Amino acid sequence: MAGTEIRTDEGVVIFEGSPHKAKVLYGNLLWTGALALSKFFATSSAAPPVKGRSCLELGAGTGVVGLTLGSMGAEPVFITDNEPELLLLMKKNIEANNLSDRVQTFCLDWADGKSFMQQLPDLVVAAATQQR
Ligand SMILES: C[S@@+](CC[C@H](N)C(=O)[O-])C[C@H]1O[C@@H](n2cnc3c(N)ncnc32)[C@H](O)[C@@H]1O
Repeated sequence: MAGTEIRTDEGVVIFEGSPHKAKVLYGNLLWTGALALSKFFATSSAAPPVKGRSCLELGAGTGVVGLTLGSMGAEPVFITDNEPELLLLMKKNIEANNLSDRVQTFCLDWADGKSFMQQLPDLVVAAATQQR
């Protein structure tokens, strides 16, 4: 899996993939909304506390928000998407940040209730906006 390596302001290492597949995979790219949400959790006094809390990221793509939360002490963190290729990219990003003890991937399609997780997390996050 090829990929550009990016280090966020919060110190999280993210590999992107190519979106240009038979089916375009936008989640292979890091989006500004995800960077903004990561920064919000890391820097804003208005953000809810995350240390020791369970988190679920929907449509996670690269997984940057969940990885940022994991790096801040949230656990367990589930970074989820409905695209199997993105789950592989997220696993690579979990390893790149040495966060496999508290962050894991899960295949979740928000349009398919059968794929939902059984556990109710403390916090649910999701991000998407313009490409960087
Ligand atoms: C524009 S990308 C944003 C990725 C990431 N959240 C970010 O901001 O960098 C949208 C993401 O939503 C995922 N997605 C789209 N439909 C979905 C569905 N029904 N269930 C789960 N994920 C979905 C896509 O695979 C993709 O990873």
